[in-house]
Amino acid sequence: MMRRRMMTARSVYPRNSAVEDGRLLIGGCDVVDLAREFGTPAYVVAEDDLREQARAFKAALADAHEGPGEIVFASKAFPASAVLRLFAEEGLGVDVASGGELHLALKAGFDPAKIVLHGNAKSEAELTAAVEAGVGLIVLDGGDPERLERIVPAGRRQRCLVRVIPGVEADTHEHIMTGHDASKFGYPPSVAAEIIGRSWERLEIAGLHFHLGSQIFDGSPFHAAVGTLAGLGEFGAYDLGGGMAVGYTRHDRPPEPAEWVGAIAEIAHDLLGPGKTLILEPGRALVANAGVTLYSVENVKQRFVAVDGGMSDNLRPMLYGAVYEADVADRMGDGERYVLVGKHCESTDVVVQGATLRDPKPGDVLVTPVTGAYGHAMANNYNGVPRPPVIFCKDGDARLVVRRETYEDLTSRDVA
Ligand code: LLP
Repeated sequence: MMRRRMMTARSVYPRNSAVEDGRLLIGGCDVVDLAREFGTPAYVVAEDDLREQARAFKAALADAHEGPGEIVFASKAFPASAVLRLFAEEGLGVDVASGGELHLALKAGFDPAKIVLHGNAKSEAELTAAVEAGVGLIVLDGGDPERLERIVPAGRRQRCLVRVIPGVEADTHEHIMTGHDASKFGYPPSVAAEIIGRSWERLEIAGLHFHLGSQIFDGSPFHAAVGTLAGLGEFGAYDLGGGMAVGYTRHDRPPEPAEWVGAIAEIAHDLLGPGKTLILEPGRALVANAGVTLYSVENVKQRFVAVDGGMSDNLRPMLYGAVYEADVADRMGDGERYVLVGKHCESTDVVVQGATLRDPKPGDVLVTPVTGAYGHAMANNYNGVPRPPVIFCKDGDARLVVRRETYEDLTSRDVA
């Protein structure tokens, strides 16, 4: 019998990934076999990792916070029905930021009471749909309060949170910072105070909300931000947004859910008092490390390794300078340095600037880890490239949960 060399894959790969004889297994499935069966590019998701991360966040909140609490999935990070259904089964709430995301959350079976509606420019139709569905919370921004006074039926009161600009610059890329003074999201504290002070017939101001930004490594900016909320009076509920960083490369040292939630719960307890309802809205940290993208190598030209996807399936390197790693799926481990480029007609279509790959050749399957968050979510059809499928893997079984787009799909909306 052949001796198999088994090891655990690097920490950036989903939980329970393994490397056997240099080949990567996700959820017990050999990813080269997956590439053959489902084609490339493809998003592959370890189902167990999603569940374990949801449970880790829930347990962390139950441990660290003595009052009522809710972990709410920011659905923008991975708005696929299968992902939403899984988190609904795990008992999470869901954050939706548009009528479309509301539609997806309701279709996935979320209890409307567990839905939180966000948005700095909600339409009349979106607010109406949310009220009719009976969403648990609407986070007020812009002209929402006045509109809701008209939309909510007489005799009912819609529970709301007021989104406050806490005036804090979190240490992250400026394009994913949202709590600073110049942010388009939320009201400055003085305006929030004025909204809170008015008497509303059909709104119940249940509490306050902020979201500081994304890919934040520690809880320190929460001190000042929660302090701003504390200055606005005492409420029953506080939603302190998402933002927990994940490790995109082996060099990153992101917090575990228990550390992140523990730090925030402590700040909330100290500054807001005990027994409050604490809502947290992780998006990225629930899904990022559960997912990888598979590509096929089309050619190797000097130091360029060109694959069959790119900025149509992962915009993050181009939008935020996000750094990823890559591996040859059946020759895992370090090798020579290459520039991993996509197939798009655009010089910025560089997926990984410094990929260390072992002897990449045309036809090889390449894998980029940590693409579970905002990959599928921001996929697009640039250059007429159909969007990739999503494949769930668990215990050696793979199931297609979102099919690949077809060329016919590219013309399916044409009416002339
Ligand atoms: N809550 C609110 C109100 C948000 O706006 C967001 C993200 C979240 C929660 C979840 O944040 P997370 O835990 O995922 O950091 N496309 C960018 C990220 C934009 C996030 C926008 N809002 C990226 O790919 O990095």
